[in-house]
Amino acid sequence: MKPKVYITRRIPLEILSQIEEKCDVRMWHEEDIPVPREVLESEIVDVEGLFCLLTESIDIDLLWKAKNLRVISNMAVGYNNIDIQAAKQKGITVTNTPGVLTETTADLTFALLMATARRIVESSDYLRQGNWNTWSPMQLTGQDIYGATLGIIGMGRIGESLVKRAKGFDMEVLYYNRSRKLEVEEKWGLNYVGFEELLKESDFVCILTPYTKETANLIGERELSLMKKTAILINTARGGIVDEKALYESLKNGGIWAAGLDVFADEPLSLNHPLLTLPNLVTLPHIGSASIKTRLKMAELAAENLILPLYDSTPKHVVV
Ligand code: DGY
Repeated sequence: MKPKVYITRRIPLEILSQIEEKCDVRMWHEEDIPVPREVLESEIVDVEGLFCLLTESIDIDLLWKAKNLRVISNMAVGYNNIDIQAAKQKGITVTNTPGVLTETTADLTFALLMATARRIVESSDYLRQGNWNTWSPMQLTGQDIYGATLGIIGMGRIGESLVKRAKGFDMEVLYYNRSRKLEVEEKWGLNYVGFEELLKESDFVCILTPYTKETANLIGERELSLMKKTAILINTARGGIVDEKALYESLKNGGIWAAGLDVFADEPLSLNHPLLTLPNLVTLPHIGSASIKTRLKMAELAAENLILPLYDSTPKHVVV
């Protein structure tokens, strides 16, 4: 008998067929509507494997209902949507999909940095809204990227890939990380600095650290006040790392110059959110890893991570 699994969203057919070869699959068939909580609560009861996305909260109450669950395969590198301690206590393996999305996410992070610094979205709207009457000396002027100082908070895989892009723009790179990364430092000529120094010295601050109890609201009123008035904050990690109320105030009152956000504390972002009234903020709907190739690789890796432990093999990427 094949092990029963539940997939919380419609996934590409070729990946679904790979899972179906080995598992007895039930799936939430919508692509753009998350599985309702009550459906997930009833589906989880008897399955041995769960393939889920970052949109599902796999909390202790849900895990409590699972009678046979052995593996949770999250199709994301981040896993803050899962109660890892509860899963560990229940002996459930949790897996994620690092590596395959590194370069794509670094691309998007640098693209967002450039779009924010050079006011790309605002400029495009300016033209389309019929405001382009003439060329003028200081019209839509932004901040230089070339030769600027980039501060990276979190020097993991994506952090290092961002460095590669920054070096092509002759940027000086500072970084702050829980532990020093000597090899990376030497390879790219980076400066390891304290958290406050990074905030004070950087023209661009990029957040690329996981969301944990320690990083929740890491960037708040005090941290924003340490940054340069011309600085730009970029967040492609998780929304909860930035205190959005404090960011709103800082952007509105000229505390920092601009921000680019791909992630928000509550996703999807409500259209009534005060942040959306600001002209100096570029917002994206959590698309860091959204290239066709990368999303297929993530789904494939998540499928492997789901199947392997159900057949007593070690998954490719174990969280716990
Ligand atoms: C992740 O994988 O954690 C991203 O946020 C989505 O690709």
